[in-house]
Amino acid sequence: MTSLPSNLLGVFENISPADQEKIVTGWSHPRSIVSFRVNHLKCTRVEVIEELKKASFPYSVWTHSEDAFYMDKEHEYTLRGLEIYKTGKIYVQSLSSMIPALCLDLQSDQKILDMAAAPGSKTTQIASMLGGNCKITALEKFGVRLEKLVHTIKAQGVEECVEVVKIDATEVVAHFSKDEKGNKGAKMFDRILLDVPCSSDGRINLEDEKTFCWYSGDKSRSKSLLQYEMLEQARKMLVDGGKIVYSTCSISRRENEDVVQKFLKTHPEFTLLPSPIAPDYTLEDNMNRWYPSPMMEGFFVAILEKHT
Ligand SMILES: C[S@@+](CC[C@H](N)C(=O)[O-])C[C@H]1O[C@@H](n2cnc3c(N)ncnc32)[C@H](O)[C@@H]1O
Repeated sequence: MTSLPSNLLGVFENISPADQEKIVTGWSHPRSIVSFRVNHLKCTRVEVIEELKKASFPYSVWTHSEDAFYMDKEHEYTLRGLEIYKTGKIYVQSLSSMIPALCLDLQSDQKILDMAAAPGSKTTQIASMLGGNCKITALEKFGVRLEKLVHTIKAQGVEECVEVVKIDATEVVAHFSKDEKGNKGAKMFDRILLDVPCSSDGRINLEDEKTFCWYSGDKSRSKSLLQYEMLEQARKMLVDGGKIVYSTCSISRRENEDVVQKFLKTHPEFTLLPSPIAPDYTLEDNMNRWYPSPMMEGFFVAILEKHT
C-alpha cells in the first residue's frame, strides 16, 4: 500500500486490509466530476436538459436519481457561468451528498427535521424533492454557517417551507419539548436527517495536504461522542414509526458503524432498513458505505426506523 502520512493511520482502526486498500486508492484518485441537481421550485428537469444541450454540455444522468446530472470537472467553471446556475434553477452538490435525502422516504405531510443543516444542500434538496410542499425545521449551531444556510435557502427560493433555528443540536430536546419535564412533547418529527459533523476523512485527497493535515484519531474520537449524543437527541424527537437517516462523509468505523451499533444495542426498538441507493458495500445489518472514488466522496448512511 502507498505509504501514508502518519496522522491518517488512525482512520483505519478495525478496517480490514482489503478495505484500507480501497480507501487509499480512492484518496489517490479524488473526484474528477462536478454534479448538480434540478431545483424543482424554480424549473423543470426538461428545461435544465434544454439549457445543457444549448450550452453543448456532455452531461450524464446519475443512475440513482433522474434529477441528478454530472460531467467532467473541467466543465465546472462554465457550468457556474450558466443562467440556470446563477438563478438557482440547478444546485451544485456532490452525488454522495444527495444520497441521505433520497433515503428519507419523503412525503409532503411529514414533519421533517434537519439537525445539522448548513450550508443547506440537503435541506434545499428535500424541499425540491417535495416541490416546496413541506415543513422543514433546519438547525445550525454556528453563526457563520447559519448565514450560509440562510443564503442557500434564499437562493434556492425555499424560504416558505424552511424554518431555521440557531441551536446546538445536543440541546434540541430541551428546546422543542413542550412539557418541560419529559420527552413526550418533543416527539414531533416524522423524518430526521442527521448529517452529523464528522472528520470528513472521506474527502481526503492525498495530493492536497490541506485536506488531511488537520486529521487526528483524537479529533475523530471526540466527533464520535458528539455524533452519538446527536443521535440520542434525534431519537427523543422522533414519532413512533418515524425514520432517522444518519450520514457522514467519513469512512472510519468509529464515526459510523460504532456509533450506530452502540445506538441499536441501547435502543432495540430501532431497526436498520436497506438503502434504496445501491452502496459500494453493505456492512453489518444494512449499514452502507461508499468508498472515495472519482465519482463519489467516501460516505456512510444508516437508515433507522423506530417501531411502535
Ligand atoms: C456535515 S455538515 C452538514 C452539511 C449539511 N447537512 C448540508 O448538506 O449542507 C455538519 C454541520 O453541523 C454543524 N454543527 C456542528 N456541531 C453542531 C451542533 N452541536 N449542533 C448543530 N450543528 C452543529 C456544523 O457547523 C456543520 O454546519
